[in-house]
Amino acid sequence: MAKPIAAVVGTGFIGPVHVEALRRVGVQVKGIVGSSPARSRQAASQLDLDVGYPSIEALLADSEVNVVHLASPNRLHKEQVLACLKAGKHVVCEKPLAMDTAEARELLAASRRHPKLVCAVNYNVRFYPISLEARSLVRSGEVGEIYHLHASYTQDWLLYPTDFNWRVLAAEGGALRAVGDIGTHLLDLLGFVCGVEVEAVMADLRTVHPVRIRPGAGPSDTFGRKAKRAGVPVNIDTEDYGSILLRFKGGAKGVVTVSQVCAGRKNCIRYEVAGSKCALAWNSESPDELWIGRRGASNALRLRDPSQLDPSAAAFTSFPAGHVEGYPDTFKQLYRAVYQDISASRRSARPLYATFEDGYRELVLCDAIAESHRTGSWAKVSN
Ligand SMILES: NC(=O)c1ccc[n+]([C@@H]2O[C@H](COP(=O)([O-])OP(=O)(O)OC[C@H]3O[C@@H](n4cnc5c(N)ncnc54)[C@H](O)[C@@H]3O)[C@@H](O)[C@H]2O)c1
Repeated sequence: MAKPIAAVVGTGFIGPVHVEALRRVGVQVKGIVGSSPARSRQAASQLDLDVGYPSIEALLADSEVNVVHLASPNRLHKEQVLACLKAGKHVVCEKPLAMDTAEARELLAASRRHPKLVCAVNYNVRFYPISLEARSLVRSGEVGEIYHLHASYTQDWLLYPTDFNWRVLAAEGGALRAVGDIGTHLLDLLGFVCGVEVEAVMADLRTVHPVRIRPGAGPSDTFGRKAKRAGVPVNIDTEDYGSILLRFKGGAKGVVTVSQVCAGRKNCIRYEVAGSKCALAWNSESPDELWIGRRGASNALRLRDPSQLDPSAAAFTSFPAGHVEGYPDTFKQLYRAVYQDISASRRSARPLYATFEDGYRELVLCDAIAESHRTGSWAKVSN
């Protein structure tokens, strides 16, 4: 196909992260669009892009652009993905893929109607090189049978009732918030690393702040500086915290906790996987280190050292050991995988990046989690 030329939708927290990562892998980014022509122009100027599109329609009409990255609020994903596919553009959509399972099913069907277009979901955490290394240890049998795992994803940016963002409203982000926003990252990661599939869940969620103060007119971008504007109280219908017991097909069990009200934890992902031969543990705050726990020998710390990693992990790391690769690097490595397919004009049979099938699966899991919390009992994950 013609050389990939990308454009980005969304000028808030994550849109500029996409722009930076694309530039780092050598993909030309032509322009960006935000919630108004003025915001688009401002973002284009700040990011030194050629075009601040007045609307997404104008972006889609640009025949030079053949890949669109959607970094807009969740409620816009469905319409924007459908419009991109109709316009013949490859899509990289931020997570969660859609607001609910019905929307995600529609997007999955649309992606199947356009098999020549790459349709990826931006589950970037898969692309920490240590995620790939842990995955290769599980796949090679070195971990043995997985008995159980426990994992968490914790943040503090919504700790106070005066913290506000579109996500806290179910109508804008989806019925589940901590689970949908960061829990799906974690569940996607565990499935990717451990090759396990959840068959049933038992969830206990909590809305710590049933009322939050919504600032007056103006944007409240994610992780943005706190608005000084006077606000109004708003009832909150999404959870701040959740713990979920998991049963996996094949017998493994697990538990995950997610929280956006955990003081001091800015963006902390942790997991520990217990297998019959060894255990693996990782913490995103020390992203280059994989702890390997053993019963009959010394424990070990495997570093992100390209010369020591399995080739499947070494292929997605760019710096020598000791030169830490972190969050922004995961976007870069993810796009290397995605753009290999885009440049080849075909979808890999089993890509490392998350597809719309994976994105759909996460929303099916969210349905089961919501049902379990509502009924106070175990819920089966629908097939
Ligand atoms: N992969 C990750 O690590 C990660 C991190 C943060 C957010 N996200 C996801 O990225 C998406 C955006 O989240 P965010 O945190 O950047 O939100 P944000 O509120 O910071 O930014 C959203 C942007 O979308 C723009 N926007 C609003 N309406 C629009 C429209 N009609 N057309 C075009 N742009 C419009 C707004 O101007 C705003 O700049 C969400 O789906 C979120 O779940 C992913």
